[in-house]
Amino acid sequence: MKLLVTGGAGFIGSNFIRMYMGDHPDCEITNLDKLTYAGNLENLRDVENDPRYHFVHGDICDREVVDGVMPGIDAVVNFAAETHVDRSIGDPEGFLRTDIFGVHVLLEAGREHGLDRFVQISTDEVYGPALSEPFPEDAALNPRNPYSASKAGGEYLARSYFITYGFPVIVTRGANNVGPNQYPEKVVPLFTTNALEGEPLPLYGKGDQERDYTHVLDHCSGVATALERGEPGEIYNIGAGNHMKNIDMARLILKEVGKSDDLIVHVRDREGHDFRYAIDSSKLEALGWKPAYDAEAAILDAVRWYVANPDWWKPLKSGDFRKFYEKQYRARLEEADQSS
Ligand code: NAD
Ligand code: TYD
Repeated sequence: MKLLVTGGAGFIGSNFIRMYMGDHPDCEITNLDKLTYAGNLENLRDVENDPRYHFVHGDICDREVVDGVMPGIDAVVNFAAETHVDRSIGDPEGFLRTDIFGVHVLLEAGREHGLDRFVQISTDEVYGPALSEPFPEDAALNPRNPYSASKAGGEYLARSYFITYGFPVIVTRGANNVGPNQYPEKVVPLFTTNALEGEPLPLYGKGDQERDYTHVLDHCSGVATALERGEPGEIYNIGAGNHMKNIDMARLILKEVGKSDDLIVHVRDREGHDFRYAIDSSKLEALGWKPAYDAEAAILDAVRWYVANPDWWKPLKSGDFRKFYEKQYRARLEEADQSS
């Protein structure tokens, strides 16, 4: 199988490429990535000289670039996206561009090139908050921030290509991933690296929100299952059912790195913060998928990776990240200081 993986220099895409190449000696993978702040070629140093792997630096919104990489491709797995909810609240435009328009460009090019499969990587966040039962795939969507709304737009468009043109689209909706190589804006790497540096852990609100902390390798094996065994036109949830409250996740991290709970600072909540995500993944399980990590094992595996790899994350926490951090957290941390 010749795969085009987009966004393969990011967190999940790089873990997927490594896993897929390991499991499929005959595959060939082209990684098309724009290398935004979240793209990092360090994530794929171990495969970059493998003759089955090719990297192309480019934007999925650029039709000429996309047409240039399509010849010979059997299937696309579209990971490329703007992905951070807080950034989408501050500046949504780039999310609309990549997460909706970029999907459109890939679909148009893919249809013209007669692909066998197109996997659109979506998120459980499109369902909005799950306050009771986990959502099955046919639940109504209720995206509530510019990130999840853009992802919902992208997947609606992808599914419309199946219905309208019979283009073989599969959509996956993954839960919160944790594991190696996650950019330190997301909560587990942010809290782990802050704890290691003796910095506060800015916990939004009371920290009683819940996420389904699924190991990135479990998400990647779910994507591979959907790619290989999924039905065109279908949607597959991918969540391990690893629910944990954010406050408990923060305490687990601090305990693992030997730091005091005093580093937790309750700060002003995220605007429109979705309280809880929960999805029912039995449809994918029926295809043979089974997660290997529970919540604690998934989070601790991530934490230990950051402890062992400061050379990977320390350079990322300077420069542009610092500017984002100041904008996102400085006022929140100062307010919290004044009220304590
Ligand atoms: P990430 O932010 O770590 O990486 C995104 C990658 O896409 C980067 O390498 C970036 O350079 C690239 N990219 C961005 N815009 C691009 C463009 N216009 N053209 C080409 N490349 C571009 O993201 P991630 O956490 O690895 O997420 C990957 C996918 O999985 C996304 O579609 C995201 O919505 C989805 N997802 C993520 C999670 C999660 O917990 N992280 C959960 C469910 C679904
Ligand atoms: P995040 O990693 O941004 O993922 P998402 O919002 O896409 O689920 O956040 C995970 C949870 O952690 C979410 O409930 C918000 C919370 N959180 C904090 O409490 N503090 C932070 O600094 C961040 C980034 C997130």
